[in-house]
Amino acid sequence: MSAYAALCETMTAAPSRWLVTGVAGFIGSNLLEHLLKMGQTVVGLDNFLTGYQKNLDMVRDLVGTEAWKRFTFIEGDIRDLDTCRKACDGVQHVLHEAALGSVPRSIDDPLLSNSCNIDGFLNMLVAARDAKVESFVYAASSSTYGDSPELPKVEDKIGRPLSPYAVTKYVDELYADVFARCYGFTSVGLRYFNVFGQRQDPYGAYAAVIPQWFASLIKGETVYVNGDGETSRDFCYIDNVVQANLLASCARDEARDKIYNVAFGQRTTLNELFALIREEVVRHLPAAATAEAVHRDFRAGDVRHSLADISRAEKLLGYEPRYDVRQGLRLAGDWYAANL
Ligand SMILES: NC(=O)c1ccc[n+]([C@@H]2O[C@H](COP(=O)([O-])OP(=O)(O)OC[C@H]3O[C@@H](n4cnc5c(N)ncnc54)[C@H](O)[C@@H]3O)[C@@H](O)[C@H]2O)c1
Repeated sequence: MSAYAALCETMTAAPSRWLVTGVAGFIGSNLLEHLLKMGQTVVGLDNFLTGYQKNLDMVRDLVGTEAWKRFTFIEGDIRDLDTCRKACDGVQHVLHEAALGSVPRSIDDPLLSNSCNIDGFLNMLVAARDAKVESFVYAASSSTYGDSPELPKVEDKIGRPLSPYAVTKYVDELYADVFARCYGFTSVGLRYFNVFGQRQDPYGAYAAVIPQWFASLIKGETVYVNGDGETSRDFCYIDNVVQANLLASCARDEARDKIYNVAFGQRTTLNELFALIREEVVRHLPAAATAEAVHRDFRAGDVRHSLADISRAEKLLGYEPRYDVRQGLRLAGDWYAANL
C-alpha cells in the first residue's frame, strides 16, 4: 500500500480539525473537498480577493449536506492577526494557501502582493505557533528558483527572484525557517509548479495559462502564446498537490522543517501544451480542431524553463504523483467543458 493510501485510511479512522486558508480559491477549495470527503472537520478562511463563493457552493454540492456540516467558513483577511487567531483556534493542522498569486499581478501592484503574501503569512505563522497546531503546511512557489538556469530544479539551489511575487514567496520560506530556529515551530513548505485542474479561474488579466486557453478554445476566442512557445513548465494536476499537502501535514522528524518541490517531474513546452489542450477541447467541440495559437511578446518576470526534481518529496514524504499532464488535462478539460 502506498504511503498516501495508508494515510487516507488513518485519517478517515481518526478525523482531525483542519484550517484551510484561501479556501474559496482554486487549490484551497480542492483541499476542502478532499478533506470533507475523508470525514475531516474543516475551518476555512478567505476574503474573496481572488476566490469565489461559487467554488464553495460547488464543494457543498459535491460532498453533500451531511459532510458540509463539518465545514465552518470565516470570511476574513489574513492581514488581520485576530482573524488568524480565531481561525487557528482548536485546529490541529493548517494548510495555508491564502496569498495573491500571479507574477504579472505582483509587478503591477507589489504593495498588495507584499501585504497579503508576507504580512499575512507572518500573521498566520504567529497565530498557528500560539495555537500550538500539530502541523503547518504552506504554499511556496517554484518562482523562488528565479534566474537559476539549472534543470531540474533541486530545492537547495535557487537563483535571484525575477518578480515581487517570487520575493514574497521566498521571504515566506525564510520566515518559516526562522520560526523553527527561534520558537521551535516547524513547518513544511511546498513549492508548487504550475498547478492546474477543476475550479482554477479562467478569467481576468492574471489567469493562468491552462484555464485561460481552455476558456478561449471553448468560446472560439484567440489563444495567445507569450513568446515563441518553447518556454516550458512542469504542469502539475491538482490531485497530486492535494496528496502532497496531506502527506506533508503528517511529516515527522527529518521530513519536517523542509521545503519540497511539488510537481509531476515532466517538462511540457507551451506549444505542446496548446496541442494537448486543443485535443481535449476537440473531444467536446470538434470545430476547435482548426484553432491556431497567436504568438506575441515574451512576458516580463517569466522564467524560461521549469522542471522539478521531485525526489526529495518522494523519499521523505512518500509522494507519488498519480496524474501526468495528459491525464490531468483530460479531467480538467471535461470539467471546463461542463462548467464554462
Ligand atoms: N496555482 C498555482 O499554479 C500555484 C503555483 C505556485 C504557488 N501557488 C500558491 O498556492 C496558493 C493557492 O493558489 P491558487 O492557485 O489556489 O490561487 P487562488 O487565487 O485561486 O486562491 C487564493 C485564495 O486566497 C485568498 N486570499 C488572497 N489574499 C487573502 C487575504 N489577504 N486574506 C484571506 N484570503 C486571501 C483568495 O481570495 C483566494 O481564494 C497561493 O499561495 C499561491 O501563491 C499556486
